[in-house]
Amino acid sequence: MPNPKSKAQETCTLTLPVRQGTVGPAVLDISKLYSEHGYFTYDPGYAVTASCESAITYIDGEKGILLYRGYPIEQLAEKSTFLEVAYLILNGELPTQSELDRFSDAIWHHTLINESLLRFFNGFHHDAHPMAMLTGVVGSLSAFYPDTQDFRDPTRQTLFSQRIIAKLPTIAAAAYKHSVGHPFVYPRNELGYANNLLHMLFALPTEEYTVNPVAAQALDLLFILHADHEQNASTSTVRLAGSSGTNPYAAITAGIGCLWGPAHGGANEAVINMLTEIQDVKNIPRYVARAKDKDDPFRLMGFGHRVYKNYDPRAKIIRSMTYKVLENLGHRPDPLLDLAMKLEEIALRDDYFIERKLYPNVDFYSGIIYRALGIPTSMFTVMFAIARSVGWVAHWCEMVNDPEQRLGRPRQLYIGPGRRDYVERSQRSGKS
Ligand code: ACO
Repeated sequence: MPNPKSKAQETCTLTLPVRQGTVGPAVLDISKLYSEHGYFTYDPGYAVTASCESAITYIDGEKGILLYRGYPIEQLAEKSTFLEVAYLILNGELPTQSELDRFSDAIWHHTLINESLLRFFNGFHHDAHPMAMLTGVVGSLSAFYPDTQDFRDPTRQTLFSQRIIAKLPTIAAAAYKHSVGHPFVYPRNELGYANNLLHMLFALPTEEYTVNPVAAQALDLLFILHADHEQNASTSTVRLAGSSGTNPYAAITAGIGCLWGPAHGGANEAVINMLTEIQDVKNIPRYVARAKDKDDPFRLMGFGHRVYKNYDPRAKIIRSMTYKVLENLGHRPDPLLDLAMKLEEIALRDDYFIERKLYPNVDFYSGIIYRALGIPTSMFTVMFAIARSVGWVAHWCEMVNDPEQRLGRPRQLYIGPGRRDYVERSQRSGKS
């Protein structure tokens, strides 16, 4: 029974310490709020709550700015590679050539997965969702690497990070191969990160398969754009799960589970499903009207973002890449792309979307590129997970090395019944 008192408008005035980061809004330090003033704070969805200090990624949602370790996403997208960005996110600085070579070698060293783990896939039904397989198999890594329980050892942290980044593509490709009933293709380290993944996805033992360099470049770019995004839902999940001291592979698995949801990483799959359902430009007004109707749960997938109240800078990069990729891969214009462009145009002119600052997010266009690369819709969020694994491990490492971090344990505003005595079953009146 909701307690009407929870809506009561009381105010109180408190003096609280303010902490300032390098850039961005300052925060009120409320860590002593309860012990000194007897209050908790109430912030559903943690919309204005900073749960930690972090030096990895900075977002200015109003201006549409995204920086990894201070470097603008536009510059990294243009000049860098996914593995270099992974090094940057993990270590804080761009690598020299020899540092990058050593890092890449370490990743190649871990691309294989234990053969027993590979056999797990036979236990899944052929139509199991690849995200379900990814969750199961990555979670099982904790059974293969129980030693990582000693998570304060920096060597083990590095080993854990490298294993996750190296093995996720192998596990993802195995999930795909299982779903289409094809034999598993082993990693080929000399190919490079994105190239090797495309090879594992699409090569067959019956014929030569050469990866299209434009496809590999496009995938590498998408991975750069998705590599980290500060305290997003899945990264916060990894931190929260990891804060209990659980095996880090289990913490990553929690993040994968969170990413799967359509409000987060599952949006790329949901966008394609939505565009397929809309089918034709003439149907757009009907779907836009549905998105605006409070009684209809339908939302325009790929629109809106908790932090960006401006065009998502990643969406801008992907948008301009999309035509180039389609052209270079020799695809005829994808009708879904035309539909997406028209939908964007209509929504951006609509007062509902303007007032709420709802712009296309990174996932509005990423699915169209994935489609052009031949990646099935159900694998889109898996691709996202591969890229985001870099952010997850970087945040997990930052968390375990942060002396201020404690077990993550939010409080609540209780609105249930107060204390009451047990009623004998024979004397209960029932609800109605
Ligand atoms: N379509 C229609 N209306 C929307 C949409 C949308 N896509 N997104 C938000 N709104 C409306 C809400 O109904 C709400 O309206 P109201 O103020 O009249 O009640 C207002 O905009 C604010 O929305 P919230 O849900 O409060 O915003 P929140 O920050 O909690 O949600 C989210 C952000 C989950 C991303 C939301 O915009 C959404 O569901 N978008 C579609 C799913 C999507 O694309 N997710 C991918 C995000 S990017 C990523 O994770 C990589």
